[in-house]
Amino acid sequence: MVTGNIASSLVGITVRASVLHGSPRKNGNSDTLTERFLEGLQQTGPHEITHFHLNEMEISPCQGCLACSAAPEHKCRIDDDMQQVYSAYTKSDLIVWATPMYWGYLTAQMKLAQDRMEALAWEGFGDKTFAVLMTYRHHYESAANMFRRIAPHFNIDLHILECCTYDKETGKDVPIEDIPEKQREAYDLGERLGLTSSSS
Ligand SMILES: Cc1cc2nc3c(=O)[nH]c(=O)nc-3n(C[C@H](O)[C@H](O)[C@H](O)COP(=O)(O)O)c2cc1C
Repeated sequence: MVTGNIASSLVGITVRASVLHGSPRKNGNSDTLTERFLEGLQQTGPHEITHFHLNEMEISPCQGCLACSAAPEHKCRIDDDMQQVYSAYTKSDLIVWATPMYWGYLTAQMKLAQDRMEALAWEGFGDKTFAVLMTYRHHYESAANMFRRIAPHFNIDLHILECCTYDKETGKDVPIEDIPEKQREAYDLGERLGLTSSSS
């Protein structure tokens, strides 16, 4: 976990953001898209941003015991790095899901964390803004639709930005550095959410 307090000048409200990095490729496409997003966000700070590089964390799969349903504060009984995510999550206004598409869904690292969020679902996800930043080669809808399906149920303020990192004509991957328009979109989305996501 890396915690940073980013100071900037435009507005002066504080957004507390938890960023879940789902790719095992640190500084890969989804991380780079997220970096631009956070640059936009930090124009409207000061903001508190906590990063979780899930690939580097010890997070066990949900055991489906549902002990969290009856536990005080719905605490998950598994004592691993997910506890850091729980603490940051409850204080956050904005949750950033940064992930590539893997086999039509989120990466395994992200899915592990997502399943463990069952412990948070008892209190609902209302009042949170979700920014889903996804990179992909061929399709993203199957993962995007999961977020679209749960958003109204949990009253989530949902924003999805997808970026194709593949050129169908050449059959080659395109590094996200070569897709400036999507980087700009990410920056703009970050800036917009920086102005609207704070509960303080
Ligand atoms: C194991 C694996 C599975 C993948 N599955 C899909 C997929 O189902 N759909 C798709 O559009 N892209 C798929 N991709 C491509 C990645 O989503 C894409 O290259 C992405 O930009 C990588 O992001 P990253 O650099 O942040 O890891 C897959 C890549 C890998 C390594």
